[in-house]
Amino acid sequence: MKIAVLANVKEDAPVSLEDPPGRWDDLDDLKTVEATLTSLIDLGHEPKYFPGVIDSIEDIKRFAPDLCFNFSEGHYGNSREAQMPAVLDMLGIPYTCAGVLGMMLSHNKHIAKSQFNMAGLPTARFMVVEDANNIPESNLRYPMFVKPAFEGSSIGINESAVVNNYDELVNQVSWVIDTLDTLVLVEEYIEGREFTIGILGDEALPIVEIFSPTGYYSNSQKEDFASEVYRVCPAELSYIQTKEFQNLALRAKKVLNLEDVCRMDMRMDNAGNPYILEVNPIPLMYPDPKQASLIYAADAAGYTYTDIVRKIIESAVKRWHLQ
Ligand SMILES: Nc1ncnc2c1ncn2[C@@H]1O[C@H](COP(=O)(O)OP(=O)(O)O)[C@@H](O)[C@H]1O
Ligand SMILES: [Mg+2]
Repeated sequence: MKIAVLANVKEDAPVSLEDPPGRWDDLDDLKTVEATLTSLIDLGHEPKYFPGVIDSIEDIKRFAPDLCFNFSEGHYGNSREAQMPAVLDMLGIPYTCAGVLGMMLSHNKHIAKSQFNMAGLPTARFMVVEDANNIPESNLRYPMFVKPAFEGSSIGINESAVVNNYDELVNQVSWVIDTLDTLVLVEEYIEGREFTIGILGDEALPIVEIFSPTGYYSNSQKEDFASEVYRVCPAELSYIQTKEFQNLALRAKKVLNLEDVCRMDMRMDNAGNPYILEVNPIPLMYPDPKQASLIYAADAAGYTYTDIVRKIIESAVKRWHLQ
C-alpha cells in the first residue's frame, strides 16, 4: 500500500519567544518517523513522510495514499489532534488512530472524565476551574491535584501540583493559568501506584508500572531521561487485578471512540481501587522501550517495532475495509 506518514516533529515546531516552557514537548522526534518509515518498507509498503501541517495537503493529495499513518498532534487551537483527521475525512483518505470525535474527547480531559462517569468507569472526582479568584465550591477532599484540562507530557504539572489546602490550591491554579492560559482540572489526588496500559488493535498489552520519586509524573521528570523515574513491565499485579485494569482500558477505548493504538494512564489507590487518569489517542512511539511506555509494553509482549506498526496497519485496514 501507499502510506503517508503524518507527524508534527519537534524539529519543525513553530517555536516563538512567547511559548511557555515545554510548549512543544508532546510533539514527536524525527527518529520516530524514521523508525516507522523503515518498518513500513520492511512490511512491503511504499511510505512517504509529510509534516502534519496545512501546507502538506496538496502534496498528500498528489501522493494519493491508500492510508495515512497519523501521528499528527497539531500545533494550535483546541482542535489540535483532530485537525488532520478532519482534513483526511474531507479528502476521503483513511487514516490510523482516532477520528475527530475520539481526538476531541481525549484532548478535553474533563469531557473524557464525564464520559467515564456516564459509562460507570472509575476516574478521580474533579472540578473545572477557569479563574483562580473564583474557585467553585466543591466537596472534593484534600490533597488535590492541579493540572491543565488539555495538554500532554505533563505540561503544566510541576513540583507543587499536589495541594493540601485552599491557599495552595489558589496558588497552583494561578500558576497554571498564568503560565499556560488554560482551563484547569482539579482532581482528588490518588495516592498509590501508577500504571499505563497500551492497546494495540483490540489487545491490551502487559501493564507498565511507573515509579517516580515524587509519587507522580511531572513535566521535568518526563523530559529528563536521566531522572529517577523507572518503569517495570509486566507490573507486579495479581492475574485478577491485571485483567481488571486491562478491561477498564479496553472499555475506556470504546467509550472515547479510540482506534488502532492508544494508551491509558491509570492509578490504583492504597485500597486497591483503580482510576483512569487520562487517555492518549496517539501514544508516544519513540523507538526506545526505555523512553516510550507503549514500546516497552509491546516489547514485553514479544512484539518488535515492526510488529507494532503492522498491527496498527492491520487494525486500520480492517476498520476501513481496505482489503
Ligand atoms: N488525580 C491524580 N492523582 C494522582 N496523580 C495524578 C492525578 N492526575 C495526574 N496525576 C499525575 O500526573 C501525571 C500526568 O497527568 P496526566 O493526566 O496523565 O497528564 P498528561 O497528559 O500530561 O500525561 C500522571 O502520570 C500522574 O503521575
Ligand atoms: Mg498522561
